[in-house]
Amino acid sequence: MTIIMSAKILDGKKIALEIKEELRLEIKKLKEKGIVPGLAVILVGSDPASKIYVASKKKACEEVGINSKVLEMSENTTQQELEVTIEKLNQDEKIHGILVQLPLPGHIDEEKIIESIDPKKDVDCFHPENVGKLSIGVGNIFPCTPAGIIEILKRNDIEIAGQECVVVGRSNIVGKPMAMLLLNNNATVTIAHSKTKNLAEVTKRADILISAVGKAGLITKDMVKKRAVVVDVGMNRLENGKLAGDVDFDQVKEIASAITPVPGGVGPMTIAMLMRNTVEAAKSSNLRTYE
Ligand code: GUN
Repeated sequence: MTIIMSAKILDGKKIALEIKEELRLEIKKLKEKGIVPGLAVILVGSDPASKIYVASKKKACEEVGINSKVLEMSENTTQQELEVTIEKLNQDEKIHGILVQLPLPGHIDEEKIIESIDPKKDVDCFHPENVGKLSIGVGNIFPCTPAGIIEILKRNDIEIAGQECVVVGRSNIVGKPMAMLLLNNNATVTIAHSKTKNLAEVTKRADILISAVGKAGLITKDMVKKRAVVVDVGMNRLENGKLAGDVDFDQVKEIASAITPVPGGVGPMTIAMLMRNTVEAAKSSNLRTYE
């Protein structure tokens, strides 16, 4: 007789709600002390996916009590216009967090834009100064998606220290900072990517497997170790309009011990962590004001 034990579903939506409720209470107390966290989100152009993300961020701000300001700028915005807008927000005392929604139109130098954000207001944790701090394990702001994944693991009592973790994907937004955060949590970390030889052999070593590639169906059952924890960062729009992750969920859930769904796994956590980073930035800014 074979007993098939289906994986525990790691419910990111539920944890994100818990975190937002914790933040709502914290923000209420901050407001009693006269601190109102403020987030500015800049959207350049009209990419439909970006528009949806920005609307979700605005809604989350309203839920927790963060003051939000969405600046919609035309597709034809110049580098200089965008930099001037960011500089105004850098100087604005009511704004503690600045997020420029990526990707930006091709004529804009993304690196330069990220570097023009005051690192203290960089709630994405993309500025080189904050990336550096992350790599030496200091600072109180962490990149949103990787931080959300750590929170999913911790709140489900999944041990990270000493575990073999394989991250598939090496983007600056997810793959690289994810590896760094896992390392800061004492995991043994491997980063696999498009040039990795024998991907399945590498992924099969993982106690915790994290896929952040953006390719539907990339991770199949034969690539996963029995009872592994599988985290799916992929958000792929299928031809039938449905959203799918990188992981073949139906297959892999039969072998994994725990797995995040898409949607309802990592996605909601990214936004919850953005809210947390904005609160942290507001608290630090206030400390500086009264120093
Ligand atoms: N585009 C896709 N994900 C992100 C993110 O986490 N931050 C920003 N600024 N843009 C994104």
